[in-house]
Amino acid sequence: MSTAQRSVNVALAAKSYRIDIGPGLMVSAGKTLSEILPSKRICVVTDENVAKHYVMPLMKSLEAAGFVAGPPIILPAGEETKNFKNLQSIVDRCLSYKLDRKSTLIALGGGVVGDITGFAASMIMRGIGFVQIPTTLLAQVDSAVGGKTAINTEQGKNLVGSFYQPKHVIIDTDVLTTLPDRERKAGYAEILKYALIQDPQFFDWLEENAGPLLSGDTAALTHAIETSCAIKAEIVSADEKEERDLRALLNLGHTYGHALEALGGYDGRLLHGEAVSIGMLLAFTYAAAAGLCPAKDVERIKAHLEKAGLMIAPPFPASAKDIVKKMRDDKKNTDGKLTLVLARGIGQAFIEHDIQESAVQMCLENETWT
Ligand code: NAD
Ligand code: GLY
Repeated sequence: MSTAQRSVNVALAAKSYRIDIGPGLMVSAGKTLSEILPSKRICVVTDENVAKHYVMPLMKSLEAAGFVAGPPIILPAGEETKNFKNLQSIVDRCLSYKLDRKSTLIALGGGVVGDITGFAASMIMRGIGFVQIPTTLLAQVDSAVGGKTAINTEQGKNLVGSFYQPKHVIIDTDVLTTLPDRERKAGYAEILKYALIQDPQFFDWLEENAGPLLSGDTAALTHAIETSCAIKAEIVSADEKEERDLRALLNLGHTYGHALEALGGYDGRLLHGEAVSIGMLLAFTYAAAAGLCPAKDVERIKAHLEKAGLMIAPPFPASAKDIVKKMRDDKKNTDGKLTLVLARGIGQAFIEHDIQESAVQMCLENETWT
């Protein structure tokens, strides 16, 4: 497989943009962006872990292409960073750097940096330019694409935000060399999600190639990232603001996953991608128990998760009753019934409304760990 650069287009009329994928793209970021952005005034937002490795190469590339940047904004690393205080600090810094309406904020980091930077860009002067340079596998295949931006509040995760598309996405696969193994596996769960939603051939390919991909093989990574971004781009183009039962398919495993994350108290024992991995298995298990999906597909998914070293149960006790109670909080639910992304088999996901909580709880009670 060739490791040459690939591109995926997100078709959204005047808001369309390109995603470039491949090794070594950080060093050419300045040149690439000078062909896309309307002004040379920019500001980079990153976190302290990412800054150590990548802020200097990026700033050098941008400056060599004639960009004028204020000092980069370096946020603390971690989920707690997505808060109002840091949002305000980004806005204040950008205004004091005298960014104007043609200026661009560049998010260099994982989903945390991408989400808060995108939200800030959407509100500064009612919307300035925004570019994503994602540095985690999860951000490269999911959060940097599609324009969901958000911060967290005391009431929950991602409850305040906007739909705001980036002008361009640069995915340099080389940055994954410094990503901790656990974060890489968490990102892999989101790759697997696309296969389970709508691409059984991609699932076959992942069964063959998860090993090289997780060990950092550039060709395997580039192919998996390109396929994931292409699926997400197609879905986002058709249902940008999640107004039809389409973009919501991207939440496969997330209702269970979010419930487990909440039960874990977001204390680092369960990463988002780990929770999604368990959640996808639970969604398929429920679909099989309801007679919607062949049991052999559930076994195949479970075997793949185990072989790839992904989680199939949370690392803390969680009762069926408590999981269902937390699942009730999901934004998609109405009138005490659950809405879940289920599947008729690998690659055949669909959305089911009006699911009885008692049926979901009964199925969860069959898990040895509940
Ligand atoms: P993250 O941004 O917290 O990054 C994980 C860790 O990896 C951090 O400690 C970070 O500093 C470090 N890191 C990042 N890149 C690195 C690199 N190349 N080398 C070494 N360390 C690196 O977490 P994440 O998993 O990328 O993103 C999770 C966030 O994304 C959550 O807030 C979630 O809500 C959000 N999210 C948003 C969307 C969306 O559509 N907007 C989709 C999925 C998830
Ligand atoms: N990560 C889900 C979405 O972008 O819709």
